[in-house]
Amino acid sequence: MAFSKVALLAALPFAFGQSSSVVPDPAYSTPRGTPFPDTTYPNATVPYAVAGAQSNQTSPPEYPSPWGEGLGDWADAYAQAKAFVSQLTLTEKVNLTTGVGWEGEKCVGNTGSIPRLAFKAMCLEDSPLGVRFKDFASAFPAGVTVAATWDRSLFYTRGYDMGAEHRESGVDIQLGPVVGPIGRAPEGGRNWEGFSPDPYLSGIAVGETVKGMQDAGIMACTKHYILNEQEHFRQPSDIPASSSNIDDRTMHELYLWPFADAVRAGTASIMCSYQQINNSYGCQNSYTLNYLLKNELGFQGFVMSDWSAQHSGVSSALAGLDQTMPGDQAFDSGNAFWGANLTIAVLNGTVPQWRLDDMAVRIMAAYYYVDRPGNQVPDAPNFSAWTQDTFGFSHFYASEDYTQVNYHVDVQQDHYVDIRNIAAKGTVLLKNTGGLPLTGQEKLTTVFGSDAAENGWGPNGCPDRGCDNGTLAMGWGSGTANFPYLITPLEAIKAEVRSNRGAFEDVIDDYAYTQASALARRVAQPGVGGACIVFANSDAGEGYIVYDYNEGDRNNLTLWHNADTMIQTVTEQCDNTIVVMHTVGPVVVDAWYDNPNVTAIVWAGIPGQESGNAITDILYGKVNPGGKSPFTWGASRGEYGTDVLYEPNAGSSAPQDNFQEGVFIDYRAFDRLGETPIFEFGFGLSYTTFEYSGLQVQANSVGQYMPTNGQTPAAPTYGTVSNRTADYVYPPGFDPVEAYIYPFLNNSNLRSASMDPQYAINYTFPADGYDSSPQPYLAAGSNVAPGGNAQLYDVMFTVSATITNTGDIVGDEVPQLYVSLGGPENPRVVLRGFDRLTIQPGASETFTAQITRRDLSNWDTYSQNWVISNAPKFVYVGSSSRNLPLSQRLNVDACYGGGAPPAASTAAPVSGAPSGAAPSGGVVTQISAPTGVVTQISDAQDGQPQAPSAAPSMSSPVQQISDGQVRASSTA
Ligand code: BGC
Ligand code: BGC
Repeated sequence: MAFSKVALLAALPFAFGQSSSVVPDPAYSTPRGTPFPDTTYPNATVPYAVAGAQSNQTSPPEYPSPWGEGLGDWADAYAQAKAFVSQLTLTEKVNLTTGVGWEGEKCVGNTGSIPRLAFKAMCLEDSPLGVRFKDFASAFPAGVTVAATWDRSLFYTRGYDMGAEHRESGVDIQLGPVVGPIGRAPEGGRNWEGFSPDPYLSGIAVGETVKGMQDAGIMACTKHYILNEQEHFRQPSDIPASSSNIDDRTMHELYLWPFADAVRAGTASIMCSYQQINNSYGCQNSYTLNYLLKNELGFQGFVMSDWSAQHSGVSSALAGLDQTMPGDQAFDSGNAFWGANLTIAVLNGTVPQWRLDDMAVRIMAAYYYVDRPGNQVPDAPNFSAWTQDTFGFSHFYASEDYTQVNYHVDVQQDHYVDIRNIAAKGTVLLKNTGGLPLTGQEKLTTVFGSDAAENGWGPNGCPDRGCDNGTLAMGWGSGTANFPYLITPLEAIKAEVRSNRGAFEDVIDDYAYTQASALARRVAQPGVGGACIVFANSDAGEGYIVYDYNEGDRNNLTLWHNADTMIQTVTEQCDNTIVVMHTVGPVVVDAWYDNPNVTAIVWAGIPGQESGNAITDILYGKVNPGGKSPFTWGASRGEYGTDVLYEPNAGSSAPQDNFQEGVFIDYRAFDRLGETPIFEFGFGLSYTTFEYSGLQVQANSVGQYMPTNGQTPAAPTYGTVSNRTADYVYPPGFDPVEAYIYPFLNNSNLRSASMDPQYAINYTFPADGYDSSPQPYLAAGSNVAPGGNAQLYDVMFTVSATITNTGDIVGDEVPQLYVSLGGPENPRVVLRGFDRLTIQPGASETFTAQITRRDLSNWDTYSQNWVISNAPKFVYVGSSSRNLPLSQRLNVDACYGGGAPPAASTAAPVSGAPSGAAPSGGVVTQISAPTGVVTQISDAQDGQPQAPSAAPSMSSPVQQISDGQVRASSTA
């Protein structure tokens, strides 16, 4: 049901739910439980994706926008926020919601201030790996590298260190971490800013990062919500931005999963994304913002727009946007969807006061949640994003207010120690037939490739790192920071060699094959000996920078600068060639990885400022490698089954990006398609060896899963808004900054103050958007804490195994726990646990992991809830996604107090070849019982074939890697 309101703004082509029509089509008003039209995608590769991942898919309207309540540990912050917001005038509230305009103040985003209460403007600053644009701040390893450590404490430490640097810089909100993109396609330009295409690993990483950042006293901004999986077409140009089309189940089981972890960890803010989701823009998509994020996940913080990702005024407010950044519609246009227009919208009733109050309370609650008042520094922000000069303009775009803008505060502390440690621990040893570790006694050490060396323009010589000159320690775009220094591999290795009095030469010209060949030949001469270390990279970044024809997204998955030819040139001469790769994701190594002269392959990720020291630690065995690949390495790009769009595919309409593969990305795709990766997800070698034994599975008693019920309170309002429009005009004598966005009206007539020729045209807004009455909680939601139904986190099984270091030196191993959910449409296995253990030679450590209810559930689109199917479930433990020697059936019934363990509860590992086929039998989902309780149906009751009693095998006794080499580690 919709009703007409007076229109506020002209630019409302992209309304709620769909992009073209202004009146909702009744077909979109589908009842809860069938959130997507039941249509068929003819070429769907995954049956359950049929109802979603198709061209012209639409997003259902969901209103009203849920108001924050102060659930869980947000209660105190909400009490403070309500007290604060109760004192505010209408324009002061609006000032919290709207940025002042691009380059209007010193940070990449800045809210308005509240001078009457001495409340300063909030500073929002990139990036997910440091303080963007600041001098004397650290350049941390990127998300993909910290993910490769698989170390919770390092996830937290990095977050804390970055948060501390932002705090000391006077930043209120750090614009990170990233779990969107998650990495649907390896070509995605910004995947490296985030962690891993596995949602569980990404979820743990984002949760710990958020906690670390916020414990340091600043607000995190988890971004980009959601399905921002490619750079091409992310923003409207002459055509609308692309639409990521997805089904409900894939949304929950893959892309929403890590955002749920971020919400549960208390992320203060979430950035909505540029592109469309089911043909509705990310910052006005009521389904993703109102229904999924604020209702189902119970998010208590605020939603800010990506920079210029807002495309409507009233509609975005009703759909759940709380803050618009950088505030102006187009950079420096002086126009804003909000600002004065939001003031007008509240006055004319198109945005209800409770919605504005909710925005303000959410923003202030986030501020108190991380104790911003207790974490202020002098002169904040003590730097300018727009100049490194000491003196400059406070209002950079307007060139107004010349003053000291940079205080050059050194905020690095001793973070270089953690940076080096994370970079080394996130380095993955992919192959080792004896090339590593180097002893330091090599007679002649040689290094090849520009990826070892300096950028001739300096480490920050390319704006936002938008080039690939010299060693790659950061991708490009807004997800960057200035290097305070960059230790190159060349200088660190040379110093190491010289400390041992060895000889060292290099050829860093990527195309100097003649010289490279001659140098490599000398290493192989009888009586000489040593090592040939080839450095190579592959870069990517954000779409506003195009480098070497790559518009953010990668054009291919091969190494850059013809490195394959350099590798070939060196290996033709040198029988001890070690390849080190700095890459943003997987690259195709098919041409050379199994060459016997390649004696070691190392993925050194995107390491940050300590790059050279970290790789030297690994190459010389000062740190025993223990990282594991956070993504799959395939033999060709086609094997991934996903790609980004390169050309518009819908004429002048929005490109349609259909996520038909469902949850089958990365290793799940390889498993499903029966492809053998070159290096699988979770794989990584050590200089020692490990053995797995003694799997134990303990079932914990949990109650039946109860859907959340009951109702929220009615929407609160704080303070009263007078309807005397004259109260909101610019104060007398006010001297506005040019192109700055203010909340004030330029006169007391709303129509003329709007300066909108179409003011008051008939425009239909969703009636439910104005409903302030108590609203039902969702079954999968929570009325006690953010993160969804609290019972999802009940621990059903505690799993342990013994890991023994069977070698001679201390080493780290990352035991991984996978489960098979068993349904015909489930991946063969999914990651559900891991830990990083340091184990002394000859010693054993116990690996322990917990399997929650959520970990064993599938999303049921019908009941709109998580359910544990009655398909047989198995747990696997091992050293990678394809080396899982320990397994056992999970007796889910035992968690409900009944059921004897299955007769045969262990499975013999018999074959290493994954079948790709899930065990047959069992239904995928269950429907709520009439009582509203989601029940677990036992095998015997449901009429389905009985489950197999043995787990499908996931490993072979003698483990071979796919290159035909016997694995250096005996992690069988
Ligand atoms: C990026 C965001 C970034 C913002 C501010 C946008 O283009 O997508 O990640 O935080 O700009 O620089
Ligand atoms: C800015 C980035 C921003 C991007 C938006 C660039 O000019 O430097 O911060 O993310 O524009 O597209």
